[in-house]
Amino acid sequence: MFNAQEFITKTIQILKNEIKEKALIAFSGGVDSTVTAVLVHKAVGNQLIAVHVDTGYMRKNESIEVKKMMEELSLNYRLVDASQDFYDSLKGVKDPEKKRKIIGGKFIKIFEKVADEEKIEYLVQGTIAPDWIESGDNLRDTIKSHHNVGGLPDIMKLKLVEPLRDLYKDEVRKLARELGLRISERQPFPGPGLAIRIIGEATPERTEIVREACFIVEKEIEDSVEKGLMEKPWQYFAVLLPVKTVGVHGDKRAYGNIVAVRAVQSIDAMTCAYSDIPQKVLDNISTKITNNLGDKINRIVYDITNKPPSTVEWE
Ligand code: XMP
Repeated sequence: MFNAQEFITKTIQILKNEIKEKALIAFSGGVDSTVTAVLVHKAVGNQLIAVHVDTGYMRKNESIEVKKMMEELSLNYRLVDASQDFYDSLKGVKDPEKKRKIIGGKFIKIFEKVADEEKIEYLVQGTIAPDWIESGDNLRDTIKSHHNVGGLPDIMKLKLVEPLRDLYKDEVRKLARELGLRISERQPFPGPGLAIRIIGEATPERTEIVREACFIVEKEIEDSVEKGLMEKPWQYFAVLLPVKTVGVHGDKRAYGNIVAVRAVQSIDAMTCAYSDIPQKVLDNISTKITNNLGDKINRIVYDITNKPPSTVEWE
């Protein structure tokens, strides 16, 4: 049985012994990186610098919220707006693994630059077990290269520190509750962000579409959970498909893309089952997305596959 209090005490002690110089944490504002940041901050105080990168593939208002969180936690922080840089480097790239590798590589370049400027020796990441298990190693197949694993160069100047490496999400949430963090129940959001929720090329225009669709899915589901209409899914979002289908707008022919809605229940992300969403909620999601994005999206589908054989994200 996982003992959160014991893990916290032991890990802070280990981190105190391990980190002798300045350290940088890749801070996304999710449960994993926030718990990691708090543990390292407790161990080394202001020797830790939290770096949040706005990749351009964040959800609506996400980077503003992350800034608030870093301030709330009294972290020493830096915000890097690298949106244009990420958009440029993903131009023309359609292959999911290529996208993931490029994004992972970009993150590392940014961290190395900050590390050079600030004379930092350690790179702290909130990597958890499924991230490296599914990224493959000598024993396993690569299901997908997680951004915080797949982008790491073979020889890296920074020393890597990953205190949650052996934990699963449910255990990290226990730590977050024990540490009194308000984000303890926040749904996961992948490091490569919306870029892997756009099938095909992740252009700025297509990102705006999926950003709005994700916002609508999150809001409708959260409102419905609050009203007691449904159980809260473990993760819920929208995916933009490059496929075009025929529709009708007023009395005119429309030819637009498809948005898929995904909502799943899981414990540790290694498996998942699609959520049972009430028809009325799906109906509201469909109406809102087509009302708001009607000239670009004219069809909404609901993903009814489990993991396996599927995965949670579509790429
Ligand atoms: P998959 O799609 O692999 O997702 O079934 C399992 C969980 O991991 C999240 N995910 C990621 N998280 N970096 C992350 O930090 C990544 O590259 C990444 N890819 C997937 C996904 O959202 C789900 O919660």
